[in-house]
Amino acid sequence: MAAKIRDDDLAQIRESSDLVEIISSHVNLKKTGRIFKGLCPFHKEKTPSFVVDPQKQLFHCFGCGEGGDVFTFLMKTENLDFVEAVEVLASKLGHKIAYESQKDDQKASKRERIKKANLLAQRYFSYLLTQAEAGKRAQDYLLKRGITKDSIEKFSLGFSPASGRALFESLLKKGFSQKELASAGLVTESERGPLDLFRGRIIFPITDLKGDTIAFGGRILGEGLPKYINTPETDLFRKGLTLYNLKPAKGEMVAANKVIVVEGYTDVITLSQAGIGNVVATLGTALTGEHLNLLSRFVEKVILVFDSDKAGKAAAERGVGFLGQSKVDIYVATLPNDLDPADFILRRGAEEFSRFIDGAAPLAEYSIKRILAKHDLKSLTGQKRAIKEVLSLINNLESELEREGYLTRLSDKFKVSFESLLSELKKVKGTSQAKEEESTLKTALSSQERCEREMLKMALQEPESFADLIIDLGEELFTGELNRKVFETIKKGREEERIIQDLSDLKDDPLLMRYISALSLERIEADKE
Ligand code: UTP
Ligand code: MN
Repeated sequence: MAAKIRDDDLAQIRESSDLVEIISSHVNLKKTGRIFKGLCPFHKEKTPSFVVDPQKQLFHCFGCGEGGDVFTFLMKTENLDFVEAVEVLASKLGHKIAYESQKDDQKASKRERIKKANLLAQRYFSYLLTQAEAGKRAQDYLLKRGITKDSIEKFSLGFSPASGRALFESLLKKGFSQKELASAGLVTESERGPLDLFRGRIIFPITDLKGDTIAFGGRILGEGLPKYINTPETDLFRKGLTLYNLKPAKGEMVAANKVIVVEGYTDVITLSQAGIGNVVATLGTALTGEHLNLLSRFVEKVILVFDSDKAGKAAAERGVGFLGQSKVDIYVATLPNDLDPADFILRRGAEEFSRFIDGAAPLAEYSIKRILAKHDLKSLTGQKRAIKEVLSLINNLESELEREGYLTRLSDKFKVSFESLLSELKKVKGTSQAKEEESTLKTALSSQERCEREMLKMALQEPESFADLIIDLGEELFTGELNRKVFETIKKGREEERIIQDLSDLKDDPLLMRYISALSLERIEADKE
């Protein structure tokens, strides 16, 4: 995972950023006394309950409960993770980040070098495709396939020289070592010595969420194998965490609250040419849980489009593993007769494609169909097996409503009573139910917590007078898990002589962060009303 950034850096970046100014570019803030108020950007409201405290460098919305510091704000509004948010602010301020360990520090500078090499390589490739004689055939090929000049520019497509060492030599001259270029995946070692990885191929640059080029895909001109070569995994690039076109698609994804996931680079480009911009592609690998996490930052609905039934089948079977997770709703659509989305669009147009997408089935429904198709439903044993398999799939579903819906359908289909299916399902469930009950118990006890909360509020708002006093009272006083965490945070802040709200531990725990921002700002709000 991402590198850990030192507390000192975090505190410095936080101190030098102007929270009010940053929030002002999203929210119309009005000064009232010491604080600023405005309409909350995180939920719809008519009267302002969104408060920014410039001294504490915290914001909180008393309407929806969202709150935190400058990093939280950027994470929320720009859809960044914590380290990305810190990096964005740091670069705005011209602050060089030191990472927690020397190793991370070295890694960061290595990543910077790879980024730089990639950027130069991309410019080189793009020059070759659009300006040079050598790229003419490649450009013709793309145009013939229906990829427009606009798209060539928009997706920064390129062409890699066929000679085999042109990029290598050009980057050597720019001060990169062979080792660096190898670690960037741009150059490989061969019997003849160093060799460009991409030779005579059309280049699809792959960017991360910040827009930096982190890898390339290279397609052969016309027929031949391998059709594509991709940058191997590097310090900068992990396939399972990367989606082609994510950054450009982000805006439309959020607006539509859904994303279309396809398999190929050319699919993305063709769809987006046809005006469908909320589309990303995996990079020749299966969709991972990490991909889904990433997408869940932007959308609630993920539509997987598979080229053919066979590919769809394999992928959907893996996808069943995603049923339990509730972050996004997954839908599946498989294309008919060996068409891929690009072919579909070119032959049948964008409107029909959109209709096809609207007909995508929920992953569960799709998977159930697949299971039923697999078994011989004419025989009793076949039926039994199928029912058992479907039940264990239904058990993975989070929503009671959904579970019941599928059970009803199953009972209709097999003329089995709903009750007997339900009792079968209970057998499958067994252990998971105990857990649910435990958590309901937990939420029930909370009257004493109110009193604890008041104390913590005092310690946070006037630490000089109250923090030590409350620390002396001891941890045992605090019964709620969240309250106890706040207590520990206050204690740590005092021990390390830091402003409590500055502690980097908070970043791992958005719930805690929101709670602390509420407790820190609450009374100020009450005074005003
Ligand atoms: P496709 O074979 O469907 O390619 O592979 P495509 O993107 O539609 O390309 P065209 O339209 O035939 O030119 C889908 C994706 O699988 C990965 C690539 O990411 C590709 O975009 N792939 C495919 C590879 O990584 N290596 C290969 O050899 C083939
Ligand atoms: Mn394809």
